[in-house]
Amino acid sequence: MSNPHFLDSDWWRHAVVYQVYPRSFADADNDGTGDVRGITSKLPHLADLGVDAVWISPWYPSPLLDGGYDVADYRDINPDFGTLADADELIAKAHELGIRVIIDLVPNHSSWEHPWFREALATTPGSPERERYIFRDGRGADGELPPNNWGSIFGGPAWTRTTNPDGTPGQWYLHLFDVSQPDWNWENPEVAAMFDDVLRFWFDRGIDGFRVDVADSMAKHPELPDHEVNPHTGFGSNDKRPGSPHWDFPGVDAIQRRWRAVADEYADTELGGRIFVAEAYLDPISRLVEYVRPDRLHTTFNFDALLSAWTVGSQRAVIEKTIPAHESVGAPTTWVLGNHDNVRVATRYGKPITGVDYTVTDPLESAGDPIELGTRLHAMPTDLELGRRRARAAALLEFSLPGSAYIYQGEELGLEEVEDIPEALLQDPAWERSGHRVRGRDGCRVPLPWSGGVAPFGFGVDAAPWLPQPAHWDEFTVEAQDVDPGSMLNLYRAALALRRERADFRSDDMAPHGLDGGDVIAFTRGSGTVVVVNFGAQPVELPAGEVLLTSVDLVDGKLPQDATAWVATG
Ligand code: NOJ
Repeated sequence: MSNPHFLDSDWWRHAVVYQVYPRSFADADNDGTGDVRGITSKLPHLADLGVDAVWISPWYPSPLLDGGYDVADYRDINPDFGTLADADELIAKAHELGIRVIIDLVPNHSSWEHPWFREALATTPGSPERERYIFRDGRGADGELPPNNWGSIFGGPAWTRTTNPDGTPGQWYLHLFDVSQPDWNWENPEVAAMFDDVLRFWFDRGIDGFRVDVADSMAKHPELPDHEVNPHTGFGSNDKRPGSPHWDFPGVDAIQRRWRAVADEYADTELGGRIFVAEAYLDPISRLVEYVRPDRLHTTFNFDALLSAWTVGSQRAVIEKTIPAHESVGAPTTWVLGNHDNVRVATRYGKPITGVDYTVTDPLESAGDPIELGTRLHAMPTDLELGRRRARAAALLEFSLPGSAYIYQGEELGLEEVEDIPEALLQDPAWERSGHRVRGRDGCRVPLPWSGGVAPFGFGVDAAPWLPQPAHWDEFTVEAQDVDPGSMLNLYRAALALRRERADFRSDDMAPHGLDGGDVIAFTRGSGTVVVVNFGAQPVELPAGEVLLTSVDLVDGKLPQDATAWVATG
């Protein structure tokens, strides 16, 4: 399918972006781990699906202690995934197919294998090498206590003590995430300049944008004070309330403006518009949309949409709060159902509790920590048939809303969270750091099934994938779904084709429809495409017009529960 909007300078305002988690997408060299050539080989699948862009999670050299979010070299490709030449080929092939390429930027921390961190460890306190990271003396008589009470997002303290070259205990370094992920010191101009170079390195290779990992964390309070403990969660570090010494701390804005200026240098190139999408879990939304003011980043993930319960009230609340908030700064809203950090949507929507209820949740409660939420959900039983039915309805809602939409790999296949990965195989650092309390995010990272009747289902040829795939995924392969008109894959293809074809979906106009209210969300897009979502048991009569697409078959001409319809009335 060709993409008529590929060269539009504002392609990102309406783009459907497909997230690739490289380790788990496709394994061209058959070593059990996905790779760059694997991604390139499957680009025709993505073109066929109808996406406008791919976002590739980190593909850099890394010990993979946090799945690649521990970067050892920002200007190269992990040898397990391929080479820079493979990346160039991927970019060229994607562009030929009308697909933009976004990669991850991980600016809060590096890997402890980054040469600058190794140099820092090899030098003494106060050296210029140490100034690139955040080293401090400990508290207590012998410096035996961490410099403050900050905790790692993955559990345990956010500080680890070093050992001096002579074997004595040394300073501590800060890591808001895993011990293997030391935080950069963004006060140091060398660090900022290094990241400018990284941006240019990839923009020059033809990359169309960056997804910015924890875009709200780079700036820290200069005195590194203790933070208050959140009374709701009893834990401090995930507390996103205003006043945090390291989330959304003043200074993060200047860093983002600096990056924006670099991207804008490319405005007049053939590909034009290079963009940033922010990963930031921030409440209230008025703080989040500051990130997408015209001189800062372009878009930001709508984590409220991702985390919201599948209830009419919560879904409505998210739509009603996010669209005007983004409009107030002139940025498009994004719509997201999943990513590599959250329980897969088909599973979540099949649980007794399907997510955060935004009609009642106190936004200050910081209820949205994905790792914690995942663990709470894990303990509940799942009705997967129901979950998949709702996931179909949710996809048609997502793709019909104004702005840009994200698909996490495998969502288009209706894959479920793999909840029974043997403990010995779990790789998420949260598992160890939480003392085996939090299983973590491996369940949504299981390699994709492409074809055939037995594992690895075309992921590689015959090598065992790095995480085991469920035996029943033979029913969920691309090959199996391709020939099934009722499959999730064909629903996604049909929806994205209509979204691309119909001017109504590219307009920003959205007005409530007469059916809206009670258990129904209904609105008109543009000049006459009506979207109806029925959350209630009572079937709903659709408006007169041509039914373009429904997430399930109508029953006696009516829209049943947990279903969405698109109707052309104009
Ligand atoms: C957010 C990423 O999505 C997640 O996978 C990672 O663990 C943390 N940031 C730390 O980089």
